[in-house]
Amino acid sequence: MSARYGNACDIVVFGGTGDLAKRKLLPALYYLHRDRHLHPQTRILALARARHEPEDYRKLVRRHVSQYVASADFDEACWASFAERLDYMELNVSQRLEFARLARRLGDDPTRVRVFYLATLPELFASTALHLHSAGLVNSEARIVLEKPLGESLPTASRINDQIGSVFDESRVFRIDHFLGKEAVQNLLALRFGNALFEPLWRNGHIDHVQISVLETVGVENRGAYYDRAGAMRDMLQNHLLQLLCLVAMEAPVHFEPEAVRNEKLKILEALRPITGMDVQDQTVRGQYSEGKRAGERLPAYYFEKSVDHDSNTETYVALRAEIDNWRWAGVPFYLRTGKSLAQRKSEIVVQFKLVPHRLFPGQTPQGNRLVIRLQPDESISLSLMAKSPGRGMALQEVELDLHFDEAFKRRRWDAYERLLLDVIDGDATLFMRRDEIEAAWRWVDPIIGGWREVYRSPKRYAAGSWGPEAADSLLERAGHVWLDER
Ligand code: BG6
Repeated sequence: MSARYGNACDIVVFGGTGDLAKRKLLPALYYLHRDRHLHPQTRILALARARHEPEDYRKLVRRHVSQYVASADFDEACWASFAERLDYMELNVSQRLEFARLARRLGDDPTRVRVFYLATLPELFASTALHLHSAGLVNSEARIVLEKPLGESLPTASRINDQIGSVFDESRVFRIDHFLGKEAVQNLLALRFGNALFEPLWRNGHIDHVQISVLETVGVENRGAYYDRAGAMRDMLQNHLLQLLCLVAMEAPVHFEPEAVRNEKLKILEALRPITGMDVQDQTVRGQYSEGKRAGERLPAYYFEKSVDHDSNTETYVALRAEIDNWRWAGVPFYLRTGKSLAQRKSEIVVQFKLVPHRLFPGQTPQGNRLVIRLQPDESISLSLMAKSPGRGMALQEVELDLHFDEAFKRRRWDAYERLLLDVIDGDATLFMRRDEIEAAWRWVDPIIGGWREVYRSPKRYAAGSWGPEAADSLLERAGHVWLDER
């Protein structure tokens, strides 16, 4: 069969009526179908507890897909052929015996790839895997996809990993971090390892500090019940931000293949200097949004959001200073921050280079060069350079070299889930997290969360619609740095 289609596959989505399935997975599958990346015999089976006739479920999905894909990309004929692949089955994942029904529905063709996508609560991961196994569904072509956060601490993550590992070989476990599927994130790898230009400078001798920000304007929306238990640290920092940090800091892997890439990322996680004891107060900031305004619109306080405890101490913002104890990065602070209900939506990595060693031009305020890799909302790379301003004398001025990907490549940008779903079907785990990476990330994060319980219980308040708590600015000011925002 043509390689273009990959393998014939059964994509089984647990949590088929959930937010992720509706907003991300099914629209991504629609695009893969439209662009002919799915094998003609590939089927999609959504599972959830709710009772729906398959036809009603398809109508529901149609509504969401037409909402989440670009309107120019939604086409009735294409939808009709996509809908033929799509089926729904009511299933209570906590009932082991119900998996026998699933087995009958899937049949026993050993050549079909089976993708079990668990878009459910992490508490259900281990039991679902065990039930799949006891129903005989874990054959040599089966893969399991787990959404983040995996567990809520090192012990819980290890327990889930042990249980999953007892029925799925590690090579078949795809722990997804959708940030790794973003084009702009892969472009970071291309920038670092596809160009000779940056590598000699990519180290402590030339780089002053790095800032990694994932700022959101949305609040917790209708995910309050989950979020109030997770908070920004578990929801974003333990996974997305640490993964970005790994890609910025890791050594060049020998091959672009799963083990080589993941070995290098792991080394960075293991080199992160622990933040413990009173350092938790000095090097981290946790915040929670209170009532505020954006563009004249009133925004609610976190503790008034749906399903959130009114006395909640959960952080909706976290900023911290990380240090990587290795030869390349010793002495270079990595500032990480993420938060909800902020002034601006942007995800970016800023690499701030050091100043020139000698000031040649008098009367200039020295500025270091700055490389900004923007992931969202637009994808771009810009490099600030000092240039001579026109006219007499040698007045220097900062100017920017800008590369905007939508101008450079006039093609639709794939959504992260499209790329990652295809990788799962192909069995390529390069952009997925290995068990030891997840556990190393928890090993670093757990003492911070533990320290917060001891010495930093109440998060700092920040007004919704603002740039976050003032303490996050002071965190950098103490080292003579500032967040590089256009406020
Ligand atoms: C998810 C988090 O993993 O990532 C959400 O659970 C967050 O809280 C989302 O909003 C951000 O992803 P993206 O792709 O919209 O930037």
